[in-house]
Amino acid sequence: MPASIIDGRKISAAVREQISKDTADFVAATGVTPHLAAVLVGDDPASQVYVRNKERACEKCGLKSTLHRLPSETTQQQLAELVQQLNADESVHGILVQLPLPEHLDATQILDAIIPAKDVDGFHPENVGLMSQGRPRFLPCTPHGVMKMLEHEGIKTSGRHAVVIGRSDIVGKPMAALLVQKGADATVTICHSRTSDISAIARQADILVAAVGIPEFVKGDMIKPGAVVIDVGINRVDDKLVGDVDYSAACEVASAITPVPGGVGPMTIAMLLQNTLHAAKHQAS
Ligand code: GUN
Repeated sequence: MPASIIDGRKISAAVREQISKDTADFVAATGVTPHLAAVLVGDDPASQVYVRNKERACEKCGLKSTLHRLPSETTQQQLAELVQQLNADESVHGILVQLPLPEHLDATQILDAIIPAKDVDGFHPENVGLMSQGRPRFLPCTPHGVMKMLEHEGIKTSGRHAVVIGRSDIVGKPMAALLVQKGADATVTICHSRTSDISAIARQADILVAAVGIPEFVKGDMIKPGAVVIDVGINRVDDKLVGDVDYSAACEVASAITPVPGGVGPMTIAMLLQNTLHAAKHQAS
């Protein structure tokens, strides 16, 4: 039987509807509109699309968003100054610096400069620490979105073997942290570019999360029959978006799978809105 499709658009629409209601209640009670400030440096086409999607989603849910566009030759100091200005601006509740930054800029230093209370990406070391101790302030949007999807679909994680392919700070590491934490209770293996025999490990997964950034890296024979496959990849190949999983082959083996596009991507945006509302609530209290 072919895999059932986990529809990220549908699930995220339900999440956004709740966020719209909660935002309207918050605005009515406080007169404050949650406000996300996004910073985009340079003209990377994919980043422009992501940022535009985030802005649109904010508007639809009643949140304010402002976009700060800086040229690719922006210096470290100029960018750091903008972050400081947004940190100090009481009308801004969440700050998002779109990654990747141009190569001459030190992203770590910039992300560390965002005050943790406005770090709606959940990338600041303080927020990463709180997450890994199981007392989160902001969860990173993509892994949080994946957890929401699993929950929504009634996919049990407790006691199951989850294999995460990829060890990035944005997805792989926090994904593993959320799957292993109390409540989720998965047994987690992380694979990366130096792992020997990734296929053999991937084939042990009840839940396989692909976050490597390599188009169709996960082949059908790397998937255990009946596994749940979560494809975090968004790769542009010949003007088409493809994930990190060979989708048609995976559909023949998996029990459930997220498509690309329309899978994890919309969930990431929904979680960003949720974090921005959460930030505004926290700062207003
Ligand atoms: N670039 C790709 N994914 C992300 C994300 O989740 N947050 C930011 N800031 N940049 C990204």
